[in-house]
This record gives sequence, structure tokens and C-alpha cells, in this order.
Amino acid sequence: MSSRDATVRGATGASTRPPLAPGDRDVDASRGRDSERGALSIVNIAKTYGGSARPVLDGIRLDIGAGEFVSLIGPSGCGKTTLLRIVAGLLRPSEGTVELDGRPSLEPSREKGVVFQHFNLFPWRKTIANTAYGPELQGVSRPEREETARRFLAMVGLSGYEEHYPAQISGGMKQRVGIARALAIEPKVLLMDEPFGALDALTREYLQRELERITRSERLTTLFVTHSLDEALFLSDRIVVMGARPGRVLAVFDVPFGRPRAQNDIRSDPSYAELRKRLWDLLEGELARAATEAPGQETGA
Ligand SMILES: Nc1ncnc2c1ncn2[C@@H]1O[C@H](COP(=O)(O)OP(=O)(O)OP(=O)(O)O)[C@@H](O)[C@H]1O
Ligand SMILES: [Mg+2]
Repeated sequence: MSSRDATVRGATGASTRPPLAPGDRDVDASRGRDSERGALSIVNIAKTYGGSARPVLDGIRLDIGAGEFVSLIGPSGCGKTTLLRIVAGLLRPSEGTVELDGRPSLEPSREKGVVFQHFNLFPWRKTIANTAYGPELQGVSRPEREETARRFLAMVGLSGYEEHYPAQISGGMKQRVGIARALAIEPKVLLMDEPFGALDALTREYLQRELERITRSERLTTLFVTHSLDEALFLSDRIVVMGARPGRVLAVFDVPFGRPRAQNDIRSDPSYAELRKRLWDLLEGELARAATEAPGQETGA
């Protein structure tokens, strides 16, 4: 866990690093199941929104190994949500493609679970029916999908709340339902856009711990957008720093801490402060640049 392990990659972001941290998450690989797990490739993605002359994203390349947790961090408006929506299949890129386990993956699919900042729960559905929504769309029978929903609600600590409506549970609990709903389709890849951004600090820290545990135990490939350096450092195997206008990968940082992780343990590691400073120095320059540049034509649509 020395600071020497924290390496910065070039702007292409492409990596040949084994996706698994030493001593961790290697059980599946040893069983030969690793190929099922969801290696994600973002291949030369560019995006220009209709009516705009300037690309929002340009030349984004990123390989995420099966079971790897990668965070995207960058100034507001640099295209993180746009990229996540493209990977989710909710938005077409202007150029480039997305591959899952080597196959094109530009459509929404049950292999990709998505969690956004706003919970987007159906207010008229109980917790269990919200969680079972994906399997329901897939035509899974009611007893079977409810069993799946119960299992994932238990995983996010919501056993006993199956019959509650969204209005009867807290914000943190709603977001846990959102995570359970994404997990209930049993995806290979979890795509999360600032999922804890609207929560209070304590709930956020609690859910970060839960997410670290779940993505590790389920061996989920995760692409996670955040504005928090500490959140990214706690959760990630690698952190991708994006710059704006056009949105692009500035650098990719390896996070050297082993798993399972505890917030307090990694924060007291000397390499934590050093890596955090390097991230901040890079972001600070980018934030200053974003603040002084004119918005350009791509905004306001
Ligand atoms: N539907 C759209 N039509 C046109 N332009 C858009 C659209 N959605 C986003 N944009 C523009 O694309 C750029 C990137 O937006 P995006 O939401 O991807 O940024 P972001 O990095 O997620 O920002 P934030 O950190 O504030 O969430 C912005 O300049 C935004 O104005
Ligand atoms: Mg966004």
C-alpha cells in the first residue's frame, strides 16, 4: 500500500492492468467464470448534441476490467452524465462504440444496471414492486421476481420495508431501493451517476460502505460518477479525471488500497493524502479553466 503504487496513466486511459486488486475478487477467475463478468470498453467516443458546433465529448477511450470499480470525476459540464448515458445505451454517440465482453453494446440491456442521483421510483409502487420492476419487464413470474427483489432489498439492508411506498421511506432508503432495483436485473455492469449526491453526509458514508461491500461480493464492474474525491478514493480501483470542452480523459489514477476497505483506515494511510493532492491539483487547474472560459454553443439546449 505504498505511494509508489499510485501510478498515473496517460490521457488515453487504456490500461492493461489486471482489473482485480491483489488477493481480492479472484475467486471467479479461478473458477473460469471471469468471462461472464462484464469487461467494458469505451472506444473512441465522441458526442456532439444536435444544433451544437462543439463536441461535448471527444476521443474518450477507457477499458474497464471485469469486476473493476472505476470513478469518473471532473468539472460540472465536462460530459460525465453524457458518457454514462451513452454507456447505458440511453444516448447515441456521434462517433465510437461501447463494448461489453467484446461485443457492441450501444442499447440498454439487462446486463447494465443504472442508478441516477434522483431515485426515479414509481410512487404508486411498493418497495418490493419498485425493486422487481426490471425482472417484471423481462417477463419473470411474480413469485420469482418478488423473491429476487426480497434478496436484493435484504442486501441493501431494507428487509421489512417491502410493503412501504416511496413516500413512507427516507431519502437514503429510497436510494437503497434504487440500488436494489438496479441489482435485481442481475447486471454485469453497474452504472451510477452521483447516486449519493442528494444525501446527507452520514447516510452517504454509510451507503458508500454498503456499495463497496456489494460491488465486491457481487463482483460487479462499476462505472461511478462523483464530484467527491474522498468518495472516489474510498470506492475505486481507478479514478478517471476528465477535462472539459471537449470532455476528455486527462489522466487515470490507480488507487492502491486493498479490499475490504474502511474509510478511516485508508484516510490514515500516508499515500491517501498524497494521491488526493495529486487529484486535486489536476482538477483545480481544470476547474479554473472551466470557470474562465465562455460557455460555447453546446450549453442551454
Ligand atoms: N440534451 C442535451 N442537449 C444539448 N446539450 C446538452 C444536453 N445534455 C447535456 N448537454 C451539454 O453537454 C455538456 C455536458 O453535460 P453533462 O450533463 O454530460 O455534464 P456533467 O459532467 O454530467 O455535469 P455535472 O457534473 O454538472 O452533472 C454540457 O455543456 C451540457 O450543457
Ligand atoms: Mg452530470
